[in-house]
Amino acid sequence: MCGIFGIINDKNNQAAATVLEGLKKLEYRGYDSWGVAIIPNNKKEIQVDKHIGKIGEAKTILPAGKIALGHTRWATHGGVTDNNAHPHLDCNKKIAVIHNGIVENYQEIKVDLLKKGHHFVSETDTEVIAHLIEEKSKTKKINFAIFETFKLLRGSNAIAVLDFDSQSIIACRNGSPLVVGLGTDQYFLASDVPAFLKETNKVYFLNDGEAVILNNNGVKLFDIETEKERSLVSQTLDWKLEDAEKGGYPHFLLKEIYEQLKTIPKTTSINEKEIRELADKINSGYKIVLTGCGTASYCALASKYFFAQQGIDSSAIPSYEFMPFSKFIDKKTLVFAISQSGETADTLIAVKEAKKRGAEIVAVINARGSTLERLANTVLSVGAGPEIAVVSTKAFTSQLSTLYLLTTAVKNKYEIGKEKIINLSQVITKFLNTQLINQLISLAKQLMNEEHMYLIGKHLNYPATLEFALKIKETSYVHAEPFAAGELKHGVITLIQKGTPCFVLASNDEVKDEVLSSAAEIKARGGLMIGVFPFESNEFDVLIKTPDLEDLTIFGNIIVGQLLGYYLGVGRGADPDKPRNLAKSVTVK
Ligand code: AGP
Repeated sequence: MCGIFGIINDKNNQAAATVLEGLKKLEYRGYDSWGVAIIPNNKKEIQVDKHIGKIGEAKTILPAGKIALGHTRWATHGGVTDNNAHPHLDCNKKIAVIHNGIVENYQEIKVDLLKKGHHFVSETDTEVIAHLIEEKSKTKKINFAIFETFKLLRGSNAIAVLDFDSQSIIACRNGSPLVVGLGTDQYFLASDVPAFLKETNKVYFLNDGEAVILNNNGVKLFDIETEKERSLVSQTLDWKLEDAEKGGYPHFLLKEIYEQLKTIPKTTSINEKEIRELADKINSGYKIVLTGCGTASYCALASKYFFAQQGIDSSAIPSYEFMPFSKFIDKKTLVFAISQSGETADTLIAVKEAKKRGAEIVAVINARGSTLERLANTVLSVGAGPEIAVVSTKAFTSQLSTLYLLTTAVKNKYEIGKEKIINLSQVITKFLNTQLINQLISLAKQLMNEEHMYLIGKHLNYPATLEFALKIKETSYVHAEPFAAGELKHGVITLIQKGTPCFVLASNDEVKDEVLSSAAEIKARGGLMIGVFPFESNEFDVLIKTPDLEDLTIFGNIIVGQLLGYYLGVGRGADPDKPRNLAKSVTVK
């Protein structure tokens, strides 16, 4: 996954600087290297400025101009080097290409181009595209040369081409996301809306197999296969600039954790029609399969427990392990595909397989205009707004509360479910007070130099433990290993030594005592006991007392994990918004 941003008709005649500012808003999509290409005023060729590492406070040395295209990279093919950074040029510096995805057949294309005398400077699959366009534009008009080139590329890709001669940006999509922003006499191309939200919220999300040409006259939409023009119908998003800004918080992660106080209750006022229709389908005997990756897969697992609580059977399968179980999918199956971005490759592959087997797809998504949204029969858009931090928080809790509401609707307890979610947000608002923050900051200080920590939870608190641990790992790079409490005696208790930090997540439920006895066994081996639950217990060295919200207690327990991860990460010098080696959504298998 990479960040793409381009502009036509930059009103400040500083298109390279404008593109760099836009790329900064997309860095959550990849931050191994960045680069900008510009068509400078009164110059004969494209100029490029590219570097490895995060953009940070970097300034570009590129000259003035009105048309530029930029990229922030998450390396897949070719190491993290200046040469491998995008954009990539053709031999005559008239064509610059940036790319999101993987060209599976680039080696064979490259061999042919080398024979034709093309000279390559990088190891990337992307550079091949620039030279292939150059080759084809010897006999065709540029946009047809690009369409033909794109049709030859195997794999899920999005490309954007800056063409000097036609003073335009031409982009094609097949898999990876692309969106056009329609400003006043300014036109934008990006892989995500936050890049140009400051200028416009009038957008067009490209579909697979579509291309756009942006130039001084505006934006034209084409079907790549037929190379025929199509009418472009834009939509206006209800997103505001501040949604994509830090709003006075030091990091997007902390802002988005606090935004949950609004985003969680918002789920009670959206998707009502869809939730009632889905409840009817479930009551008419549809099977339920929940799937997603990473944090989204933990949302799937927690939802399985919520369904079971209502006496409803369902299965939760991480998307990267979906295929062996796809044979059990049929026409009377609802597949809930959970994804913040709606672009995660493994989740899309699982959905396409389920669709092939006749299943009805329910997309439980946050980002709008995504591939998953287009593949779905029903869309539950959880409305958490742009989630910029790579570490998912508000999207997760909004997806979980939306699915919780569905489980209550199936049993005609939808209104009760809504009241409980509203009450949850009011209680959590009081819970997120200075006393809690001070306690978490001092705990983070206490654990700052720990390299290993373990977590246990039972029943609903088991998926909560998985998500809590993932937040610690993603933000602080500490090895945080979650277990089902019952697993302890079957081997993993060997890992406990004197002072080993052990978190115990629990609720005031029927297994509270069992979990406490597991905790006692860990304490007996010298573990440093950290309790995260809504009751007193003097078995623990540290107790984070969370609100007692019955079956919704896990929301408070998980938010403690989000905050502790944040303070541990900041304390250990990690970048809470852009953890190493990660990207906001993984668009490659
Ligand atoms: C969560 O903090 C991570 N960024 C990651 O596990 C993420 O949940 C996973 O990659 C799925 O992304 P999606 O929700 O956009 O599909």
